[in-house]
Amino acid sequence: MADRESAGAGPGREPLWWQKGVIYQVYPRSFQDSNGDGVGDLEGIRRRLGYLEELGVDAVWISPIYPSPMADFGYDVADYEGIDPLFGTLDDFDRLMAEAGARNLKVILDLVPNHTSDQHPWFREARTSRTHPRRDWYIWRDPAPDGGPPNNWLSEFGGSAWEYDENTGQYYYHAFLASQPDLNWRNPEVAQAIHKAMRFWLDRGVAGFRVDVIWHLLKDKDFRDNPPDPDYRPGMNPYRRLLPVHTTDLAEVHTVIAGLRKVVDGYDDRVLIGEIYLPVERLGAYYGANLDGAHLPFNFALLEVAWEARAVADLIARYEKALPPGGWPNWVLGNHDRPRVASRLGPDQARVAQMLLLTLRGTPTLYYGDEIGMTTVPIPADKVQDPWEKNLPGLGLGRDGVRTPMPWDASANGGFSDVTPWLPLDTNFPEINVMQHRVSSHGMYALTHALLSLRRAHPALAVGAYRPVAATGNLLVYGREAQDERLLVALNLGGEPLLAAFDGLAGQILQSTLCDRVDEAVAGELALRANEGVVVALGRGVAFPAEAG
Ligand code: NOJ
Repeated sequence: MADRESAGAGPGREPLWWQKGVIYQVYPRSFQDSNGDGVGDLEGIRRRLGYLEELGVDAVWISPIYPSPMADFGYDVADYEGIDPLFGTLDDFDRLMAEAGARNLKVILDLVPNHTSDQHPWFREARTSRTHPRRDWYIWRDPAPDGGPPNNWLSEFGGSAWEYDENTGQYYYHAFLASQPDLNWRNPEVAQAIHKAMRFWLDRGVAGFRVDVIWHLLKDKDFRDNPPDPDYRPGMNPYRRLLPVHTTDLAEVHTVIAGLRKVVDGYDDRVLIGEIYLPVERLGAYYGANLDGAHLPFNFALLEVAWEARAVADLIARYEKALPPGGWPNWVLGNHDRPRVASRLGPDQARVAQMLLLTLRGTPTLYYGDEIGMTTVPIPADKVQDPWEKNLPGLGLGRDGVRTPMPWDASANGGFSDVTPWLPLDTNFPEINVMQHRVSSHGMYALTHALLSLRRAHPALAVGAYRPVAATGNLLVYGREAQDERLLVALNLGGEPLLAAFDGLAGQILQSTLCDRVDEAVAGELALRANEGVVVALGRGVAFPAEAG
């Protein structure tokens, strides 16, 4: 087996937990409120750990829980070594860790090292004077000759990325909100401070970090203007006007990431995950030149791929090819920034997509609520919370609709809270909720649970090699293989029945997305119903058909 396909870091190595495991993202404001303020909290998450254990995931990644003014709902950190009172206390955190450990669940925290809140003491000090020792922890520039911003760099959340500071007569750089000033990672003291914060949490037992906007950490030291993007059209997100070549994805950023990795490697068995929105060809570099970068540079390509068999198969092939030897793949179908998969593809294809996610080679990350088919909830204008939507209304950038409270049952507020929650629940919560799903033998929860069990039971699925088989029209077929086990995955990406015929095909269905047909024997051909995917265990000695064309 080629090195890039083998499970561990080398021949004979046992796969690590984050290679064979499945990660579940919790958006803490919306998982479970325990203290009646309408916002989820750590004690709420603790009470729901039994649910996650039963679902069958291995690790929980919690979006930021640090003290924050919440201008960007926790992605504006005011203290890297504490818990915001909204979410609880350090004692609550320790209790959550202990119970997660007892249930064999790992906890991964969100690390936000690119920027702080403008309320962080570091920034409050930095802005007091040009000569303050903390001044250089942030990125300051003199105004342009006309008094305007020093260059054309744009904020992802709209407008110039430069904010003028009256008191000291200079501009500071912010890739996101003006209240999220970027740290200056060219200053070694910044690295030391963030590394210290990482150790604070690693010492408390966290299994690793998901690092926010890791590809943003360094910006051009000469502050050159970004060039225009020729593909930009009016009506698009205005950030797209420029190609961010001098503000993101700099070659030198890998040195900074290697520094983060070194901290994590100082502890046993931890994981470093990087948030990176780049084409899959660019992700390879984020593993580090000597695999000393992120263990898992997030692969978000499924969030945007055209839902056609050839497009998906080509994406998988491009990604597999782009991985460095020994680099472990990963896949994501949803997160707190992007539309819900059940809205993007519709509820029927969301099930097919779930089978894809959980049968591809690489660590999957599930977004809370996708296991019950939660959809993007329309948010009335007067309920909008997201600063991105507030800054750039009407462009469809708002993220509130994918951050709505988890509907646990049909009781008031879906069992999420005793009071009106910070964001509205989907109006369909009396029918679509966890309790309903758990009693159904064929719902999205049942499918997700079955696929997670299948991954645990079959090393071919969890860590086996990927074999492309066929991709035409709506039919996508691939194999997964480990030792003497061969599994075939056949997905119908459309709403019409399909027939997949292969010479010598013989096996038994392990799982259908429609949660029936278990153990059905297949021979010679495989009939797929509309919107159906199946996992088939091939009989002993049955080979994968070679991909034609
Ligand atoms: C990426 C996070 O996922 C997003 O939610 C946040 O707004 C930005 N980074 C800024 O921190």
